[in-house]
Amino acid sequence: MKIAVIGLGFVGLSLASVLASKGNNVIGIDVDVKKCKKICNGITPFFEPDLEKTLKIGLKKKLTISNDFSLIKDYDMIFVAVGTPQKSNGAIELSMIKKAVTSIGTILAKSKKKPIVLIKSTVIPGTMQNVILPILEKRSGKKAGKEFGLISNPEFLQESSAIKDTKFPHVIVLGGYQTKFMKKAKSFFSKLHPNVPITITNHQTVEMIKYANNSFLATKISFINQLSNICQNIPGANIDDIAKTIGLDPRIGALFLNAGPGYGGSCLPKDMKALISFADKIGINPTLLNAVEKTNQKQIQNIISLMEKTLGTLASKRITVLGTAFKPNTDDVRDSIAIELIKKLLKKKSRITIYDPKAMKNTRNIFGDKIIYAGSVADALNKSKCAILMTHWKQFERFNNNSIKYMSKKFIIDCRRILVEKELQAEYYAIGIGKI
Ligand code: UDX
Repeated sequence: MKIAVIGLGFVGLSLASVLASKGNNVIGIDVDVKKCKKICNGITPFFEPDLEKTLKIGLKKKLTISNDFSLIKDYDMIFVAVGTPQKSNGAIELSMIKKAVTSIGTILAKSKKKPIVLIKSTVIPGTMQNVILPILEKRSGKKAGKEFGLISNPEFLQESSAIKDTKFPHVIVLGGYQTKFMKKAKSFFSKLHPNVPITITNHQTVEMIKYANNSFLATKISFINQLSNICQNIPGANIDDIAKTIGLDPRIGALFLNAGPGYGGSCLPKDMKALISFADKIGINPTLLNAVEKTNQKQIQNIISLMEKTLGTLASKRITVLGTAFKPNTDDVRDSIAIELIKKLLKKKSRITIYDPKAMKNTRNIFGDKIIYAGSVADALNKSKCAILMTHWKQFERFNNNSIKYMSKKFIIDCRRILVEKELQAEYYAIGIGKI
């Protein structure tokens, strides 16, 4: 089985590397020539634990990387994992996926192979049936289900555990018609991931499963964040004890109940907006989803209000933001709440210093010389009037009274409750814990 993976972002590169490291014959394709060169040399274009190691194993085996689409003509399975970002109105931007399937269709027209095309990219319901299938059939002049297979195959991996999640997924989801191609795909995945449940259904249900998954996760986070705001106004109330306890109820589950500054990243915010926009378009008023989104957007304002309560005006005050990555163990700052916070503080004319163990370069790409980039936590806190912990990096757990020695005002807002036990000699606020 020869496997092609189109689009070498988090999903595509993890998939190509894992499949190749297991001995499969894999080609990874991306339009970005520079990126392809890097990957060819075993260098990952972003930080992701274990990815570089897995990529190098893959390259030693049968992984090739290219920007030449025409090479897919000899392949049996073609995974499409290109981005589906969001337009300014929240709707989904399909130009990259349209381009990718147009190229695949054109190549299929000249190929003797009967490959299976598997779409990993997140697309709104109806996209497979109304956009992707017609493009592929028109360009190739061939019939889906007869001369090539077309399967929706969404991905549920999380950044920072992309390799683990690719190796050990909790579910495999396959959408499409019950054809010989579906049988082949099912057999491929059951061999690759024995004992992992497989859901097989139609395209539109699969498209909706992905949004259901991400919007439920977002709902859990906004739920706990709203509760944490209530707790903050009950002296002594502790959101973590509440989350831990309700999480023991199997109907609720323990994960995704960590209160914080709101959900960020390249998926949850974008998928929430795309689902809301889709629901609006088909005449459903998505009241719950809107509330989840609104709660998320308001969370950052709660943090700023807390700062203003203590500091008064934020203009010309030096504020330190610790952690700009949207979560720990990644250098990704896309839709990071910390980045939003810095933008809002800059509007208020604050002077910002940041430190992040991995995301300094990506943060600099956004702010250039508008903010100061410190080399360590201690440097970042020097002469600062407020420290705000945004990302739960493990190294921030070492934070202590020594770290804050040179702050000009010892005022700390801890959005992840990393320092609760530390007895800091400072004015200390933890999101979700009511001050006594
Ligand atoms: C998400 C989905 O989890 C994944 O299944 C999908 O394939 C892609 O989108 P990811 O973007 O890597 O994955 O981030 P995730 O771990 O879900 O976190 C998203 C945001 O929610 C982060 O900003 C994180 O800090 C926040 N979060 C998460 C919380 O604030 N509290 C939690 O309990 C969990």
